Amino acid sequence: MIALDAIEFLIVFAGHVGVWCILFSQIHATSLPRKLRKLVEKIVFAVMVIIPLLLALQFLGLYPEQAWMRPYRFFCLVVLMGLSLRWGFRKFTAQKPAGLREGEFQLVDLGDRIEEPKYIGFQAQVLKRFPGNQSLQLSIEKRDLVLEAWPVEMDGLVIAHLSDLHYTGKVTRQYFEKLCQECNACLPDFIFLTGDIIDNPDCLAWLPETLGKLECRHQKYFVLGNHDLRVRDEAKLVRAMEACGFQRALPSWQPIVFAGQTFYLAGDELPWFQGAENLPRPKTAPAILLTHTPDRIYRASELGVDLVLAGHCHGGQICLPLIGPIVAPSIYGVRFAGGTYQVGQTLLHVSRGISGDDPIRWNCPPELNVMRLRSPQSQM
Ligand SMILES: [Fe+2]
Repeated sequence: MIALDAIEFLIVFAGHVGVWCILFSQIHATSLPRKLRKLVEKIVFAVMVIIPLLLALQFLGLYPEQAWMRPYRFFCLVVLMGLSLRWGFRKFTAQKPAGLREGEFQLVDLGDRIEEPKYIGFQAQVLKRFPGNQSLQLSIEKRDLVLEAWPVEMDGLVIAHLSDLHYTGKVTRQYFEKLCQECNACLPDFIFLTGDIIDNPDCLAWLPETLGKLECRHQKYFVLGNHDLRVRDEAKLVRAMEACGFQRALPSWQPIVFAGQTFYLAGDELPWFQGAENLPRPKTAPAILLTHTPDRIYRASELGVDLVLAGHCHGGQICLPLIGPIVAPSIYGVRFAGGTYQVGQTLLHVSRGISGDDPIRWNCPPELNVMRLRSPQSQM
C-alpha cells in the first residue's frame, strides 16, 4: 500500500513539474518587462517548490489533508497523461523535413583552446563544475537544405547561422573569438545572426574583436532578441553592430543579389522590437526571414516564407535522455526547442545558440549552423 502511495506521489510530482514547466515556458515567451517577469518567475518557482513539499508532508502524515490537494493531484495526473500522450505522438510520428539533408557534424571543445579563467564570477564557477557541462563544446553542424523555390543558379549558397551569443561576461571573450575563427573557416557567403547578442552592456567593447572579425563573401545581417533589451539603448547596439560590418535585417523584404539571381531577406523581432506581421512573400523570388523566436513560424508560414531562421530556445539547454528538453521560452513549449522543422511549405531552423544567460548545457552543445541552400534541380 505504501509502495502504491509512493508511486502515486511520484506520478503527481511529475505532473506537477510538467504544469509548472508549461507555465514557465509561457512566461518566458512574453514581452513582459524584465523586472515584472523576474518577479512572476520567483512566485512561480516558490509555488513550484512549496506545493510538492506540502504534498510530501501530507503523504508522510505530517500535514493534514487540505481541500485543494485531491483536485490538484487529479489535475497533475491528467496533465501528465496529456504530456505523455503528446510526447509519444510526436516521438513516433515525427518526420524528417523533406528538404533537410543531414551533413557533417563536428564537436569542437573550444574550452581546450582558451586560457584560464574560462568562466568568470561565482555562479559560472559553480556551473562549470556541473558534470558533463557542455557550455564550451561547440557543435559545428553543416547541413544541406533544399528549398523548392531556390533557383539552380544560386545552388550551393552557404549561410553561417549564429544565434544567442549572450555576452554576459560570465564566459570569457576568448570563447567567442575562437567561435568566430571556426565560423570563418567554414567560408560562408552570408552570416545571419538571430538575436540575443549582449546581456551585459560592458561587453559591447567585445564586439570589434569578435563579431567584427567574422568574415563572409557577401554580407552579415542580424536581428535583435529579448536579451538585447538589457543594453537599454537599442540605437547604440545597432551602431556597434554596424561598425562590425553587420546590417540589421529590416521588417520589409530587401532584395539580395547572388550569382545574378535575387532572393529576399527580412527581419522580424516581435514581440520585443520591430515586427514583420504583414509581409507577404514576394512572388518573384525565394524569401528568408530572420527572427529571434520560433513563435513567429506559423505567421511566416501563412505568409509563404521559404526559410525561417531563429534561436531563443537554446535547445532547452538541459536535455534528459529519451525525454529531451524540458523547458523552452516559447508559447509552443519545447516543440521548436532546436533543430530543423517543416511547417507547411516553410522550413524552419532553430539554432541551439552559442551561449546562454547561465553557462550550463547538458546533452545540448552550443551550435554553429552552416547551411548550404540547394535547388531541387541541382545534381545532389
Ligand atoms: Fe537567448
